[in-house]
Amino acid sequence: MHVTHLSLADFRSYAGVEVPLEPGVTAFVGPNGQGKTNLVEAVGYLATLGSHRVSSDAPLVRMGADRAIIRAQVKQGERQQLVELELNPGRANRARINRSSQVRPRDVLGIVRTVLFAPEDLALVKGDPGERRRFLDELITLRSPRMAGVRSDYDRVLKQRNTLLKSAALARRHGGRTMDLSTLDVWDQHLARVGAELLAQRLDLIAAIQPLADKAYEQLAPGGGPLALEYKPSAPGEAHAREELYEQLMGALAEVRKQEIERGVTLVGPHRDDLHLKLGSLPAKGYASHGESWSYALALRLASYDLLRAEGNEPVLVLDDVFAELDTRRRERLAELVAPGEQVLVTAAVDDDVPHVLAGARYSVSDGVVERV
Ligand SMILES: Nc1ncnc2c1ncn2[C@@H]1O[C@H](COP(=O)(O)OP(=O)(O)O)[C@@H](O)[C@H]1O
Ligand SMILES: [Mg+2]
Repeated sequence: MHVTHLSLADFRSYAGVEVPLEPGVTAFVGPNGQGKTNLVEAVGYLATLGSHRVSSDAPLVRMGADRAIIRAQVKQGERQQLVELELNPGRANRARINRSSQVRPRDVLGIVRTVLFAPEDLALVKGDPGERRRFLDELITLRSPRMAGVRSDYDRVLKQRNTLLKSAALARRHGGRTMDLSTLDVWDQHLARVGAELLAQRLDLIAAIQPLADKAYEQLAPGGGPLALEYKPSAPGEAHAREELYEQLMGALAEVRKQEIERGVTLVGPHRDDLHLKLGSLPAKGYASHGESWSYALALRLASYDLLRAEGNEPVLVLDDVFAELDTRRRERLAELVAPGEQVLVTAAVDDDVPHVLAGARYSVSDGVVERV
């Protein structure tokens, strides 16, 4: 798929901007702080309902405005669709597809697909487990948009279970009363059922992406690997199938119940898991050099791109400000790898940062004005 037109209103620094787009490579070039990333961030938002830079919507709305609109015309084969999101921080966001307002924001998932690589991705390797969980969960949602529903079910069940545990913890502390815990049993089952579905998808994804990431790393940094992606579940065990994962979670929940009631939070489940990234025999986090960490993060994104393409879900590839960080050799390898993509959006501070093989459309971005050059 590719985007044929992007239109923003009160999004970030843009009061209003219209950007026609073509398949192939498009580079947005301009000095820092001019609004290049803001453009590709908007495209990424349509694909994930989130920003790669901030965790809340408020900063995405232009200072002084009360809502932002992202609109994109999308072409998938012969099919054209218009998707539109209205971001209302503090209130529910709204969505439209082909001007019909009878849709929820999550219904737009799957129409725009992106794989976005940006400097923030260093956190995939160096950051907290939450960064890697988000990586996995965004990708499973790109592979299968219905997983958005499973993710939000999980979040809801977790929240309600935590509320129950918190009041159990309080009741215990004040007056030593014990609460009727039979409702907790029911929430255990909900959590394990939805959690098992999420876990099964994560494990399947990791198995699919591991060889692709290893291959991408080898192309970027020959001889530097191998990479190993090891899932570390908070509920110990080796289960892979959904039924077994359910039992594994139920067993782990039973084991930690006393602690959970003391602390008032859910201690096992996909929200507490991690993905260990290994380079050679060492963990990447804490051991890999800056350059290796970059290549690792990039390899994960390229693997995501390869996987989606191989499964017939060709995404838009977004490379935000990444060429300047790479040495000439990695730059050229990356450029060769991505040049044949259906649509590649690149941002760079200066023309020279965009490798020559990535010929295509150029836009200058200066003070919020986006102009074809
Ligand atoms: N919500 C907002 N309202 C107004 N301006 C914003 C908002 N968010 C970011 N900006 C401005 O956008 C600019 C950064 O744009 P960005 O696309 O990140 O730049 P770059 O061209 O370097 O990628 C900054 O000048 C920042 O002040
Ligand atoms: Mg930028």
